[in-house]
Amino acid sequence: MPIKLVTTAAALRTESARLLIEQHGGSQGLVPTMGALHEGHAQLARTAVEQNDVTVVSIFVNPLQFGEATDLQRYPRTLDADLELLEAEGVDLVFAPDVEEVYPNGEPMVRITSGKLAEKWEGASRPGHFDGALTVVAKLLHFGIPGACGNNGTPPHYRAYFGQKDAQQLTLVQRMVADLNFPVEIVPVPTVRAGDGLALSSRNRFLSGEEREAALVLSRALRLVEERANAHQPLDLDSAVALVESQPLVKLDYFEVVDPATLEPLAENCRETPFRGEGLAIIAARVGPVRLIDNVPLSS
Ligand code: PAF
Repeated sequence: MPIKLVTTAAALRTESARLLIEQHGGSQGLVPTMGALHEGHAQLARTAVEQNDVTVVSIFVNPLQFGEATDLQRYPRTLDADLELLEAEGVDLVFAPDVEEVYPNGEPMVRITSGKLAEKWEGASRPGHFDGALTVVAKLLHFGIPGACGNNGTPPHYRAYFGQKDAQQLTLVQRMVADLNFPVEIVPVPTVRAGDGLALSSRNRFLSGEEREAALVLSRALRLVEERANAHQPLDLDSAVALVESQPLVKLDYFEVVDPATLEPLAENCRETPFRGEGLAIIAARVGPVRLIDNVPLSS
């Protein structure tokens, strides 16, 4: 079936209801995006299509989560290419509203406050970013609520898909949904990497060839820590930090091993004693004009 584009919340609900009834559907998946889609988004869409009867992808560049007006303006808009990619993945519906549809009364006076989980890491260098992102995610999760009952009269199972690459955003969305009882299951999808290890990101297109090469040190350093965790060795984060700092084009912001649920740094002892348990190694650095983030889950 050809992909369908809708731009209003009302049309999204009508089309979602029509598709669910037509397909006797018992489940609907939503993939929120800001467009400029790449293979990482394709993987989110593919996972949603595999797991649900009806899949909706939203494309909305959310002004609330940008600090600088210039960043918002230069964010790539590639709707035609995005639709082509999503159609190839078997997505049913694309919801691409304009700003007035999402914020009809201008900037919302009441917003989601992301709280303590957003104070560190990305939140520290991008004030207000996560409040803006969570506010639009809350709205998109509401817009995407399945438009009809499933075949036995019960609500269809509702899932939403977020990439593990944006680890702090994923943790915040999981907490928002749990803390505020949103009727949706959040499905994390593993990071997609280029063949050389670089995590895919819409920002990679702004890297020169030399900067892209330099940026590989982020995934190399994470892999080093991951290998040590898998071998039950001390993580020796200092030597991994030194590896990143040896690359002159890379300006490291943070490199830490944190608790995946609280994002608090793990106890110092995993640096010197064998690593056991669950952790998340997170890194952020500026490479040329771009701030890059990456992470790997650790389990041992
Ligand atoms: O991760 C993103 O692309 C955005 O932060 C999201 C979740 C679509 C909200 O605007």
